[in-house]
Amino acid sequence: MALIFGVESSCDETSIAIVENGERVLAEKTASQVETHALYGGVVPEIASRHHLENISQLTKMVMDESKIDSKLISAVAVTYGPGLAGPLLVGISYAKALAYSWKVPLIAVNHMLGHLNAVFLFDKSISLPCIVLMVSGAHTELLYMKSMSSYEIIGKSLDDAAGESFDKVARMLNLRYPGGPEIERVAKDGIPRYKFPKPKAKEKYDFSFSGLKTHVKYFLRDNKNVKIEDVAASFQETVASILIGRTLKAVKEYKVLDVIVAGGVAANSALREKADMAHEKEGIEFHFPELSYCTDNAAMIAAAGWQYYKAGVFAGLSLNAVPNLEVGQ
Ligand code: KG4
Ligand code: ZN
Repeated sequence: MALIFGVESSCDETSIAIVENGERVLAEKTASQVETHALYGGVVPEIASRHHLENISQLTKMVMDESKIDSKLISAVAVTYGPGLAGPLLVGISYAKALAYSWKVPLIAVNHMLGHLNAVFLFDKSISLPCIVLMVSGAHTELLYMKSMSSYEIIGKSLDDAAGESFDKVARMLNLRYPGGPEIERVAKDGIPRYKFPKPKAKEKYDFSFSGLKTHVKYFLRDNKNVKIEDVAASFQETVASILIGRTLKAVKEYKVLDVIVAGGVAANSALREKADMAHEKEGIEFHFPELSYCTDNAAMIAAAGWQYYKAGVFAGLSLNAVPNLEVGQ
């Protein structure tokens, strides 16, 4: 049995968790800074770093108290080292190093995007590999062909804005708060997807491009003053969901797989989930989404990913540094 202590601080959520063998969350506490950053319309890195610093030891105490685990039983400390914001990442990394050193356990460096992927495996034991992974977060949009837990190939990615980023930017145009994804989803519930927005294609068949769609919405709003923002939000959400699922289904056919994992903050989106349900009913594709509360950033997914490294004996040294632009395959 391995108890992995997870630390996440790559963006605007400070999170601490203890997970047993990558599948049982013994305790998890997350402090979201969304309210603070909403005032500025996006994450302010310096403010995020300060909040991480203020919250991280308090969250640790809460997790240790709730799980009633003696620190002597912790097997390793896993921490996000990228991608993310440099300052916020360094807070988590320094803290994790100090814990690993004082507890005399190995330190594990986790790629945040692999954390998102492992959030699905935390609860879902029915995934057949190989499969296709649709990774959709605030800064990343990628399609992966996943052969095993440690072997995957990037077959497509966004050439400009990430899917979550396009939600955030269009939300701002509609005078909605940050983060834009949940806000667009909320407003779209009262709208009808009556407008046909373009679905920009990229040169390579599995790549994505969202900046043209964002610009289209911008000019649409400039030229159509009396539209209901609920309808614009619903039309935009429908378009993004259709692009994401359309490209994913293409990959499913070509790679001859039946399972798809959807991971990252945008995996919380209900229009995306509905499109996936339709593809399941029509074509029998098995879509696997994380539990709603594990779609956005949390330390349980980092501890779950850490367990994979732990089993493989892949540990980091105390010289570990933040890698803000870390790619999925690294
Ligand atoms: O994975 P995540 O928490 O952070 C990153 O690793 O980037 O994703 C955050 C992104 C934001 O862009 C946010 O607007 C988007 O995920 N998001 C959503 C929803 N919830 C969060 N997008 C669409 N629908 C949602 N319900
Ligand atoms: Zn994330």
